[in-house]
Amino acid sequence: MSDKTVTLIPGDGIGPEVAEATVRVLAAAGAEIEWERQIAGKEAMARSGDPLPDEVLHSIVRNKVALKGPVTTPIGKGFQSINVQIRKRLELFSNLRPVTTLPGVASRYDDVDLVVVRENTEGLYSGLEHVVVPGVVESLKIITEKASTRIARFAFEYCRKHGRKRVTAVHKANIMKLSDGLFLECFHKVASEYPEIEADERIVDNMCMQLVMHPHRYDVLLLENLYGDIVSDLCAGLVGGLGVVPGANLGTEIAVFEAVHGSAPDIAGRNVANPMALLLSGVLMLDHLGQTEAARRVRAGLTGVLEGETRTRDLGGTASTTEFADALVRAIESS
Ligand code: NAI
Repeated sequence: MSDKTVTLIPGDGIGPEVAEATVRVLAAAGAEIEWERQIAGKEAMARSGDPLPDEVLHSIVRNKVALKGPVTTPIGKGFQSINVQIRKRLELFSNLRPVTTLPGVASRYDDVDLVVVRENTEGLYSGLEHVVVPGVVESLKIITEKASTRIARFAFEYCRKHGRKRVTAVHKANIMKLSDGLFLECFHKVASEYPEIEADERIVDNMCMQLVMHPHRYDVLLLENLYGDIVSDLCAGLVGGLGVVPGANLGTEIAVFEAVHGSAPDIAGRNVANPMALLLSGVLMLDHLGQTEAARRVRAGLTGVLEGETRTRDLGGTASTTEFADALVRAIESS
């Protein structure tokens, strides 16, 4: 079988360091991948004046699958977030974040096993803001039947495919009766097509408290864009933070897998970043590509390493990015 070509966007800051470690570990696990490297972000901006050159998007469209490191976004000025641009231009409507306790990673709970499904294209992130009169600004929250139905169906299909039992829709329809009301109505309509999967709902503020107190009570969470952004980080905090949680942005045909942390300029270039988030996103990608044996080998190797002493500084260890990757490669090769 020939290798699958995948677009690799190492990104900015710590991106190239964690991407390098990820590529080595996936190769050691027997992943059959040929990487097509593409430059986006600050380096692309310096080279061509465009932080997201068309060639990057063409490569993703051609290969249908990409692995992306973090990209720096200027705050309050400069170019629009590369992540938002990629999601919008490729219609990656679903943001998926599995949140699972990892052995040896300190966190408040054992055995957390949640999946956060976030609508990625609309809500308050539609970018429709204007000044009504000086001192008064309006931001529009867009909720459509089409996007709400599409994301609800994604969540239930995910359950079927992955043996999950329940979807909880998270909303504030008691206050935003029309917008969140429509999101919820679409959810219940779709749920009726999946009678074997339990469907229930929670108001978002209560959901946050419930997750902090009883994360084991939940399975798959379905949220519109803003609630999804916030609640998915809350969930990451339940298992050790953004440095250990993978993510994916999925459309009908295209899938972009990415770490959820940023480019960490404070530690960039020092070989101390934790590569786990990008690596686990790579493992999700292997599952997506049907390379499940390679995915299993990386997970087993990671469990072995984390049960020992080797870990990066953010997890209380002293290993460099390279040393952590070396340990993982050894664990995989000796299994
Ligand atoms: P950040 O996630 O880059 O950093 C927050 C803190 O976490 C820093 O102290 C950093 O050192 C630490 N950290 C992050 N990832 C780590 C890793 N793998 N290993 C060890 N420590 C890690 O968030 P921040 O500082 O808010 O954003 C920096 C830049 O990244 C900004 O330009 C932002 O726009 C961009 N960003 C990009 C994202 C993406 O491309 N998906 C997501 C979030 C932010």
